[in-house]
Amino acid sequence: MNNFTNIPELIFKLGGTGSVSKLLKTNPSTISNWKKKNKIPKSYLRLIHILLKERNLDIYKENIDNNIINSKQKKSKFSILVIISGGVSCYKVLDLIRLYHKNNYDIEVILTKSAQKFISPLLVTSLINKKCFTELFSSDENENMNHINLARNKDLILVAPCTANFMAKISHGIADDLGSNVILASESKILIAPSMNPYMWENKATQDNLKILKQRGINLINPESGMMACGENGTGRLPEIDKIYSFTRTYLLEKEKMSNIKFKSQLKILITAGPTQEKIDPIRYVSNNSSGKQGYALAEEFLKLGANVTLISGPTNINKPNVNKYVEVSSAKEMLSQVENNIDCDIFISCAAVCDWKLIPYTPENKKVSNNDKLKKKNNIIFKLESNPDIVKFVSKNKKRPKLVIGFAAETKNLIHNARKKLQEKQLDMIIANLIEDENSIFGKEFNKIFIIDKYYNIQETEKLKKHEIANLIISKSLKLYQEMNAENYNRKSITV
Ligand SMILES: Cc1cc2nc3c(=O)[nH]c(=O)nc-3n(C[C@H](O)[C@H](O)[C@H](O)COP(=O)(O)O)c2cc1C
Repeated sequence: MNNFTNIPELIFKLGGTGSVSKLLKTNPSTISNWKKKNKIPKSYLRLIHILLKERNLDIYKENIDNNIINSKQKKSKFSILVIISGGVSCYKVLDLIRLYHKNNYDIEVILTKSAQKFISPLLVTSLINKKCFTELFSSDENENMNHINLARNKDLILVAPCTANFMAKISHGIADDLGSNVILASESKILIAPSMNPYMWENKATQDNLKILKQRGINLINPESGMMACGENGTGRLPEIDKIYSFTRTYLLEKEKMSNIKFKSQLKILITAGPTQEKIDPIRYVSNNSSGKQGYALAEEFLKLGANVTLISGPTNINKPNVNKYVEVSSAKEMLSQVENNIDCDIFISCAAVCDWKLIPYTPENKKVSNNDKLKKKNNIIFKLESNPDIVKFVSKNKKRPKLVIGFAAETKNLIHNARKKLQEKQLDMIIANLIEDENSIFGKEFNKIFIIDKYYNIQETEKLKKHEIANLIISKSLKLYQEMNAENYNRKSITV
């Protein structure tokens, strides 16, 4: 039943041809065609995923993804390194590595010294038909650099179970065995699945280490609550192996989808980034904390996909990406003028933090003061606020409106409510919402955590990720939306996703 290489069965599960065609606003004949061909077009996948989720059938999502991917390339080979540290649940991870091996992942395994007290390298080797690594130092010339070699070219590094000790080591950069060295030497995505006695988990030392790891962009598969091997009840159990497998597979599939995106015709992307500076006089200005990093990351990731990227940037202190066109501006007015000059594009992303106002100097007698020279304190200047142009609204309501207009909303409270309001008022297709809890948490940092809200009010919350990973998620979502809008006969260029 859960083999959805069988599309007719999937349609049946979703309520039959009639219901599905109504839900997807398509002809029943379209759905019948899918059944006949046993294939669902990729442009409908997202909607199908949503329907499955709504009906608590999302366990089938992976089967559909598998179906699509398998039909295209038969074998999907992900490169994954599993570090098994010395927790009592490490025997369970044997099933996990067996699953990876069975599903043709390119898997390597490291056992820590303590893990070897519970399971043997020989057992691992017999499951994956490969050497299991344990030693940092080796006289074998092929293995004496394993702490570096094993760190390279991995799609994912998973530490499962991750002991309190291993968490403590990697959060403090300690590199005293093979596994901890690899973590320090790798740029790959790292995921940990902590598992330990509930008191060890709740201990402030462990929680502080966890905080450090999360801040560095290391992702977590949360331990679960229940009865522990030691007989105590609480949080600290390793989640079911199926759950860990599914979590990692979803991550890897998303990554693969991104690297498979090819444009049929070159998409033109216009991005604004950074802050604007609003001149008070020749010496002073009003601005904000935006660093430009998220907008630049978007530009760089779109470039990697072969798009034609124009970046209009306010003043920043970061290296400018090698985009097709780079325009530096200072004020909101200049940014608007450059956006207008470059509005002929497919997707506009307004990532810049445009100052809402500028300060206009007046005398106490309400006369405008020239700001061509430095303003003097003795003149008792009074500043009035003048609104700046709303650039994203200008683009969204423009006759030459690009197909997709995406805005950003940074809010300190009522994030979703305010972001949705902005999405609606400005007639955006998608909005990226950032909660600013403390101005030091996002501005200028390498990490971000966002909510992606589309015009159908689908909301996706991300984890705290590197700004380039966030950029890839935004790109993936925006290209799917772009493609769906094309499928709705918007009569514009198409892309394959
Ligand atoms: C029987 C037994 C079970 C253990 N289970 C766990 C566990 O589930 N989680 C944990 O963090 N530590 C556990 N420990 C403690 C670790 O083995 C110990 O901290 C060790 O130094 C971890 O080394 P490693 O992180 O290098 O693998 C256990 C120890 C024993 C003796």
